[in-house]
Amino acid sequence: MPIVEGMQWYAARDFASFATPGHRRGSGTHPDLIDLFGAKAWSLDIPVSGGATDVHFIEDVVEQAEALGADAWGADHCHYLVNGSSAGNLAFFLAHLNPGDRVIISRDIHKSLMTALIHTGVQPIYVAPQLHAELDFGIGIDPAQVERAIAANPDARLIALVSPSYSGVSSDLEAIAEVAHRHGVPVYVDEAWGPHFHFHPGLPVSAMAAGIDGAVTSTHKALAAFTQSAVLNVQGSMINNPRLKTTVGMSQTTSPAAYILASIDAVRSQMVLHGREMLERTLEMARAARERIRTIPGITIVDGETLGVARYDPTKFVIDVATMGITGFEAEHALRNRFHINPEASDLVSIVCFFTVGDSQATIDRLVSALETMARENRGKPPIQTTLRSSGSIVRPGIQVMTPRDAFFARSLPLPLAEAAGKVSADLVIPYPPGIPVIAPGDVIEQHKLDYLAAGVAHGFYISGAVDPELRTIQVVAD
Ligand SMILES: Cc1ncc(COP(=O)(O)O)c(C=O)c1O
Repeated sequence: MPIVEGMQWYAARDFASFATPGHRRGSGTHPDLIDLFGAKAWSLDIPVSGGATDVHFIEDVVEQAEALGADAWGADHCHYLVNGSSAGNLAFFLAHLNPGDRVIISRDIHKSLMTALIHTGVQPIYVAPQLHAELDFGIGIDPAQVERAIAANPDARLIALVSPSYSGVSSDLEAIAEVAHRHGVPVYVDEAWGPHFHFHPGLPVSAMAAGIDGAVTSTHKALAAFTQSAVLNVQGSMINNPRLKTTVGMSQTTSPAAYILASIDAVRSQMVLHGREMLERTLEMARAARERIRTIPGITIVDGETLGVARYDPTKFVIDVATMGITGFEAEHALRNRFHINPEASDLVSIVCFFTVGDSQATIDRLVSALETMARENRGKPPIQTTLRSSGSIVRPGIQVMTPRDAFFARSLPLPLAEAAGKVSADLVIPYPPGIPVIAPGDVIEQHKLDYLAAGVAHGFYISGAVDPELRTIQVVAD
């Protein structure tokens, strides 16, 4: 573990530092923060350059660690990130695309990919994930859709998609790579939710194993690294890796925290040496929990089996609670405030939880028994009649008349929601989580999306991206 060892090397020496960070290994830190984190954590908040790796004294440990990362995730090159998958999405787009290029891209993208569209000024050709109509659930991008989109846009320079989706559904990446490569187009996958896929055969195939050219994945999400950590992997000859290295540097802080990088280094080693057995245990606990939750009256789990899809991450739990007469928001509120349980997300219909190598039978039992209590207390309540999920039909593409960049930078004005339908949005309107833009800059605003957002805000949606997060108004392109 080169970075971990670099930190150990530095920690063992008594440096008097006159460089960043200014807290001087905790000497200047507020005592409450020393209490909160412990003196050791402060003493190890050291920089990468001149700290964990110092080219004057030792080898470049980050480069060594990234080479090991490439081996671990089956890539040719791996870039360790300290600004999450968000930075990787931006870096990849900046490296591979030029303003005006056409990109075939799934519409269920995360805010950070929409941001990359704005930064790069490319022309998105949106494709909609297929839908399970009854459950209003995105079930991935069909390779045939990609084939059709390439036929209609033969000059497209990239296929980009999110897989797995926030709800755990993976697309058929092998088939998508085959279609795209047959036409000479590379594929980029936002695999933020799949950092563990490469390390257990019971999980969907990882982007690198499927032959995808570039993929970012958040080691802080489904693996045990620090918040903000992620890796950007590339392989093959279609991506210019030296340029990517430059744009990775442009997309993140110039003062990366060594402890974040060290946590990627350690997770990489942990997964290579013990990933299979650790994930086996997680998968077994997930299987048993799923069986128990399925028997709770009034609660439904939506997963690969319910959706009829083969590629599903069984560590993801989309738990429908509207069937027992409460919204996902109400369930999340109760779980958090009464039971001190943190779900990952909620919407009108469901809550989303996920299990990792850090979970134990005890924490999982707490979740299952809280759900049992809530189901008992709500017995007899009529179900809430909504199936509108934050990542289903509501994020289907409508009509785009401008690129996200042109609309974002256009002269714009705030309009009350009641007057906004039919106008061109200059705003990003993103219920968070899952962070998928319902309205993107350049979209013609549709009434049914406004109705959905207004209902969501009334129920407690947190809106990100929009100039007015209370959504009294929406920013539209001035005529
Ligand atoms: C699909 C997807 N991509 C990218 C991101 C951003 O990841 P990060 O928080 O690591 O920047 C998220 C965050 O939730 C996400 O859901």
